[in-house]
Amino acid sequence: MVAVAVLAAGKGTRMKSKLPKVLHELGGVTLVERALRCAAGLEVERQLAIVGYQADLVRQALAHLDVTFVEQTEQLGTGHAVQQLLPPLAGYEGDVLILNGDVPLLRPETLAAMLAQHRETGADATLLTAQLPDPTGYGRVFCDEQFRISEIIEHRDCTAAQRQNRRGNAGIYCFRWSSLERVLPKLSNDNDQNEYYLTDAIAMLDAVYAIDVADYRETLGINDRKQLAEAYGILQERLRDHWMAAGVTLVDPDSVTIDDGVQLGQDVVIEPQTHLRGTTVIGDRCRIGPGTLVENSTIGADVTLQFSVVSDSQVADGSRVGPYAHLRGHAEIAAGCRIGNFVEIKKSQVGPGTNVAHLSYLGDAELGAKVNVGAGTITANYDGVNKHRTVIGAGSKTGANSVLVAPITVGQGVTIAAGSTITKDVPDHSLAIARARQMVREGWVGPQKA
Ligand code: UD1
Ligand code: CA
Repeated sequence: MVAVAVLAAGKGTRMKSKLPKVLHELGGVTLVERALRCAAGLEVERQLAIVGYQADLVRQALAHLDVTFVEQTEQLGTGHAVQQLLPPLAGYEGDVLILNGDVPLLRPETLAAMLAQHRETGADATLLTAQLPDPTGYGRVFCDEQFRISEIIEHRDCTAAQRQNRRGNAGIYCFRWSSLERVLPKLSNDNDQNEYYLTDAIAMLDAVYAIDVADYRETLGINDRKQLAEAYGILQERLRDHWMAAGVTLVDPDSVTIDDGVQLGQDVVIEPQTHLRGTTVIGDRCRIGPGTLVENSTIGADVTLQFSVVSDSQVADGSRVGPYAHLRGHAEIAAGCRIGNFVEIKKSQVGPGTNVAHLSYLGDAELGAKVNVGAGTITANYDGVNKHRTVIGAGSKTGANSVLVAPITVGQGVTIAAGSTITKDVPDHSLAIARARQMVREGWVGPQKA
């Protein structure tokens, strides 16, 4: 059992943002939530978040998690932030993991290894370090050959010689709480920034050990937008490697982005310039892209999606979508459908084997099986105030350029003549024509120039 506390009170000045730094998103998940997720595999008995700058926003963003919020009203440094844990953790007997809220790429295995070592050695504190190719901005960790730490000096407080040390502090610590509790009140702010540094607590404790992480990129701290973009690149590389190893073809991996909530089946092919977001699930053998965005949608097996946008929707097995289709707001496409060029479908159910092949808008509609929606068919679902439903029965055909003015029910096996504007319900197995009759004047001569 361990308590986890994430430092999330800072403003993050270098982001130049109205939003607190820890609420910036990396692949659709806030930095602070990612930091907490790193501890997911451990037996966590308490989760705490230290909040301050725009605390309400941070509370809201973490409201779905079981987190106790601790307020740091003035942001006087990381040591001052951790001092705020003194009342809520008074008398706590266990270990406390302290995570910087801006270190999102840490692997849960790394944290577990650190905790295991901490317990084995019985140290007062164990902290994660990395050999950084460019340690600019990181606190430098000074330790002996047994990894026993003497002190940590912030980059800005280092001499030129001290800066040669490339062992950086990742901002990830495990403390025996009773030891930390003793030294926290003794921190001073006698440094270049006049802040209370958590790192100064290290020098005040006896047995403090470093554990070097194998891949320094896990420890990347996000302080500005450039580092945020770098972190996204690293996250994407990991996800792409994961999916390729799991049997997914990425034709041009660098042009594809995948969120970590996405699930992909076997032998899926992802074509270039394709982006899979949120909770999207893609079934076996689908071919997605090129040029496609799928968000929070469930796609069955053997589906093709080309140059299309699909959000909050479902497409069942074997359907073909695109090029240039837009499915949104709970479009549900059954199996074996053909949804074609320049078609938008919103909040509609489309039955199996139905074709909506060209230039249509379907909104708030329910289509049966094997309907053929002619080119340019539109459901006029909006009267300016309310949305209304259109129902089209199985096996019906709408002619090119027909308009179905909702609310309206078209029965089964109906044919709607091309160019019709249908305003009244149409019974099963009938033909509906609603257009001006054609007139032809033979031999007609138009006005002549004088
Ligand atoms: C900190 C470490 C540094 C380490 C680096 C790793 C200290 C003094 N320095 O520096 O050794 O190499 O992280 O990324 O700890 N925060 C608060 N309250 C505050 C100040 C900060 O909650 O008063 C939070 C921030 O929201 C952030 C985290 O603490 O999540 C780290 O703060 P930041 O200012 O980014 O520290 P660094 O200067 O990067
Ligand atoms: Ca930082």
